[in-house]
Amino acid sequence: MGENPAMPSEQEFEEARAQFPVLDRTAYLNAGSMGPLARTTGEAMRAEVDRDVLDGRSGTRYIERMLELRAELRRRLGALVSAEPEQVALTGSTTDGCNIVLAALDLGPDDEVVTTTDEHFGLIGPAHASGARVVVVPPDADRIGEAVTARTRLVAVSQVLWTTGQLLPVRELRERTGLPILVDGAQSVGAVPVSAEGLDFLTISGQKWLAGPDSTGALVVADPERLRVARPSYFSRREHDPDGSFAPWPGARRFEHCWLATGSLTGLLAALDTRPSWAFERAAEMAERFRARLGDEGVDVIVPEQRATLVSWRVRDEAPADVVARLAAAEVVVRDLPGTDLARASVGWWTSDQDLDRLVDGL
Ligand SMILES: Cc1ncc(COP(=O)(O)O)c(C=O)c1O
Repeated sequence: MGENPAMPSEQEFEEARAQFPVLDRTAYLNAGSMGPLARTTGEAMRAEVDRDVLDGRSGTRYIERMLELRAELRRRLGALVSAEPEQVALTGSTTDGCNIVLAALDLGPDDEVVTTTDEHFGLIGPAHASGARVVVVPPDADRIGEAVTARTRLVAVSQVLWTTGQLLPVRELRERTGLPILVDGAQSVGAVPVSAEGLDFLTISGQKWLAGPDSTGALVVADPERLRVARPSYFSRREHDPDGSFAPWPGARRFEHCWLATGSLTGLLAALDTRPSWAFERAAEMAERFRARLGDEGVDVIVPEQRATLVSWRVRDEAPADVVARLAAAEVVVRDLPGTDLARASVGWWTSDQDLDRLVDGL
């Protein structure tokens, strides 16, 4: 691993990996659901709970600190995806981000949202609830482009499909269709390099590839002033009148719809600090190693042309859930994908060759 200058030495890798106690015992390959938590992330969260218990949760200093933590997190998440802090709204999840956008577009039955067969409910649920007709096509740039009509108001797709790890060319889709695009970044942000530039809306999940606490995330909005605030909270308004009409804060913070525990804010900031400079390169290389090795072992591994760090394979002769359970008994954590014959391993920058050996042995 030391030969490529972007890659860590063995010692650097081991030190970085050692931040995650769960990896001592477990081949934890499920960041696509929930990433591993670093020791420092847990400590940052616990310290806030202790502070709340001992000092209470009120007063000017408490509020000002909480607001400063939110501002810092907007800056850090924005920097991660080449967005300005003013374009970042903190949310609790990717699903929240999708709901915020789709509720604000005021769509009806004459409008269409184009999406793919391989989307998570966190995207298609909000698309359906928007009232628009949801047009579902295979995850292929040509098929998506061909599905666009004069009624299409939004293209809504994942940058990385949660089923197969396939990467979709989201910026190209935006250019090709000329339509606003909502990009579900749940399986891309933190796993592969992502830039929000040229994308109208991009969601971030904090708990997956960023290895942050539960119920953290963000929505990046290219032009916040052009999207209606459909779900206002106290965080949205700079001032308001007795009838509830309000002047929103400038920028995307107007879309922030929930209180986030200070422990979640400091926990995600701490999690961002655990990321080494070589995170993307190493994760990509390990994912390729997983695919190659599983293929060599005769596993029917899925190898999309453009791919990220999710590695899925077809399970033959038994239920994928049984394979997952057998692996779990051997402390190898992967998941099945309900409604498919697929099982899936999430390969992170922290994943080792021993994790791969253990997966192969368990299969
Ligand atoms: C592609 C995709 N979108 C959305 C979600 C839901 O993410 P969240 O829990 O952050 O809403 C997931 C979770 O697995 C996912 O894989």
